[in-house]
Amino acid sequence: MKYLFASLLLVCGCGEVVKEKPPEPPPLLLFVGAEQILDQNCRSCHNPGSKVKTELKVDDWNKVTPEVKKKIVARITTDDKAIRMPKDREPLSEQDKDIIKEWAK
Ligand code: HEC
Repeated sequence: MKYLFASLLLVCGCGEVVKEKPPEPPPLLLFVGAEQILDQNCRSCHNPGSKVKTELKVDDWNKVTPEVKKKIVARITTDDKAIRMPKDREPLSEQDKDIIKEWAK
């Protein structure tokens, strides 16, 4: 009985600690850059070793010319399913599009 009492006290003690507000985690979005979005959604077809028939073969997204950046933005923002990228997939989220637009500036 003594023991039960002691452990009850302990549990209460822990409860107090838990009530303290944990530090806010940093917003994850800050860490998602255009490169990650492009790697995840485009790299499978547009990497230099890909057998997909396209002019666009990219190893490092940050080395593409401003013209290519413009093409990328045009392809992800168009409503024309025939040319929209990623090909034959759901369009990127508005947030991802915005991040890439900002990167392409
Ligand atoms: C499933 C394969 C596939 C994926 C995934 C894909 N593409 Fe493509 N992409 C193609 C093919 C095939 C072409 C060539 C045919 C065409 O022009 O539509 C192409 C063409 C392009 C072109 C035009 C290249 C040029 O020189 O005119 C751009 C820009 C492009 N893709 C960007 C992207 C971006 C950005 C993504 C990711 C958001 C992406 N693609 C994802 C297959 C893909």
